[in-house]
Amino acid sequence: MSKGMTLTRFLLEEQRRYPNSRGNFTALFSDLAVAAKIISREVDRAGLVNILGATGDKNVHGEEVQKLDEFANETIIRTMERGGYLAGMASEEEEDIIRIDPACRGDYLLLFDPLDGSSNIDVNISVGTIFSVLRLDGPRAETAPGDFLKCGARQAAAGYVLYGSSTMFVYTTGFGVHGFTLDPGVGEFLLSHENIRMPDKGRIYSINEGNSRRWTEATSRYIARLKANEKDCSARYVGSLVADFHRNLLKGGIFLYPADKKSTNGKLRLLYEANPLAFVAEQAGGRASNGETRILDITPSELHQRTPLIIGSRLDVLEAEAFFKETAGETGPKA
Ligand code: AHG
Ligand code: MN
Ligand code: MN
Repeated sequence: MSKGMTLTRFLLEEQRRYPNSRGNFTALFSDLAVAAKIISREVDRAGLVNILGATGDKNVHGEEVQKLDEFANETIIRTMERGGYLAGMASEEEEDIIRIDPACRGDYLLLFDPLDGSSNIDVNISVGTIFSVLRLDGPRAETAPGDFLKCGARQAAAGYVLYGSSTMFVYTTGFGVHGFTLDPGVGEFLLSHENIRMPDKGRIYSINEGNSRRWTEATSRYIARLKANEKDCSARYVGSLVADFHRNLLKGGIFLYPADKKSTNGKLRLLYEANPLAFVAEQAGGRASNGETRILDITPSELHQRTPLIIGSRLDVLEAEAFFKETAGETGPKA
């Protein structure tokens, strides 16, 4: 790994693989990195400036909007909307798609969860930003919500920013997964984790056990089986998907947010959370499923669609899928 390799330099080197590239993709990522630095700075001083707490509004999912949710959402939109590479954006925090001024239109669609794990903001625990990039099928005068409803296998790129003990930018364009750490002194993301591979199996499982009384029979039996295994397992659950995913990406393990008796589609959003992380997981050798189907094969029907999510080490997820399929035959409902 060459020392001092910035994200921009790395992207420019990747761009050389495509002699006809106009550099739009590189520009998109550079601006996304700028937005990430601005959000990171605000997260870092969240306790000092008046940006903790809720705005008093509810978002499209009926969840309380935090001030930092709103700040991150606005920052990404303002940083990216005039770059000339986007045809539209869709945000977890916005009911409708975000349209682009025709003078600045490009070919890509950006989907994002501006601040993931927002219930952790006020207590100084890691949060993140998740993003997914699609290419428009063909030139279009107007972008419509239907343009965003592509299955995850068609993502051109995806990744996340983790605002943790350090800030990391992790992404894939379908050629492996690369991680960059923000050097705050230099103000640049520097290559720190080249070609990340997820262990095939792990000891960690991550699920919100507080929901156990609502779990389906299949989920209860699966978790009981994990605990009964003589190979010791460890429970880890931050409650910020980006942080839980990132830890399992590096250490190996499985994360589950299943459907339960109250939410038949689970909680997490297919387009803003499950798809981008599924692309990263698969590119690192891992796997992601809704218990029945590979996440990247699901054709979305709505922008804010939810999905059960089982994601992590390849063999652990395969084993869980087999268990859920087998148990569904006996008990009825899926994961
Ligand atoms: P968001 O903050 O973007 O709404 O996402 C919250 C998500 C995700 O980060 C996390 O995995 C999950 O919600 C935690 O939910 P529970 O508190 O229900 O476990
Ligand atoms: Mn989220
Ligand atoms: Mn969010």
